[in-house]
Amino acid sequence: MSANPHPRPSVAHSIAALRETVRQWRRAGESVAMVPTMGALHQGHLDLVRAGLARRDRVVVSIFVNPAQFAPHEDFDAYPRTLDSDLDKLAGVGADVVFAPSAREMYPEGFATRIVPEGAALGLETDFRPHFFGGVATVVAKLLLACLADDAMFGEKDYQQLAVVRQLVRDLNIPTEIVGCPTTREADGLAMSSRNAYLTAAERAAAPVLHAAMQDAARAIRGGAMIEVALAPARERILAAGFRDLNYLVVRHAVTLAEVKDPASEPMRMLVAAWIGKTRLIDNIAV
Ligand code: PAF
Repeated sequence: MSANPHPRPSVAHSIAALRETVRQWRRAGESVAMVPTMGALHQGHLDLVRAGLARRDRVVVSIFVNPAQFAPHEDFDAYPRTLDSDLDKLAGVGADVVFAPSAREMYPEGFATRIVPEGAALGLETDFRPHFFGGVATVVAKLLLACLADDAMFGEKDYQQLAVVRQLVRDLNIPTEIVGCPTTREADGLAMSSRNAYLTAAERAAAPVLHAAMQDAARAIRGGAMIEVALAPARERILAAGFRDLNYLVVRHAVTLAEVKDPASEPMRMLVAAWIGKTRLIDNIAV
């Protein structure tokens, strides 16, 4: 007997095959959610699939390690590729189809159009990974247009990415609703990420300090502390725990990601990016 209650999802390698499957579902009157991923699936991705299935009849999971969002010095080659075990995990939650295109399928010979997002894409991640959101926006637009799902599920873990994707579908009139889902965390608070697999045992033990330090700072701000006064000890704590480089630990407007002008009235989000060993971790929480 199979350990999984559902069959393995079928795999579409081409945009034409994905579109044909979605067309058949539509003909049967079924609704569709999409979960864009780069694979190496963890519980956080599976929670996105579950959230999609709670809203729609069918779920497509895309698995594509997108070369356009990695700079030459980044971890594109090392990024974990685990399609076989990803398919088993997706069978466990009942995803219907995996869209796993080749780089050639997504970026064929002569491909020459790239989206350049501004607004929510400016600052934070872009200060450290200037190529990143152009690559994300271009591939997400292509994935959403290939599937034309009713909803697309994105994790709040990549909070600035979620804001950029919302802006993208609004500005380009892509007819898919973007649904943000809460970050899935390990028991000790570390946000789940495919890149956690890079951490050594010592780094993994230190990593939850990101979440703990943010929580204390957010509590202090809610209690009336000035933002910078609350962030200073959090920065020190993160560095003392073994992070070698703190790219940013800031509080921003929760929707626009602009600098906070009036902490008493604006919705706020705290965001962090920091290096531990050879791994760059990001996280964020509501304030
Ligand atoms: O968050 C990710 O995994 C990727 O940035 C995404 C949205 C799948 C685009 O490649």
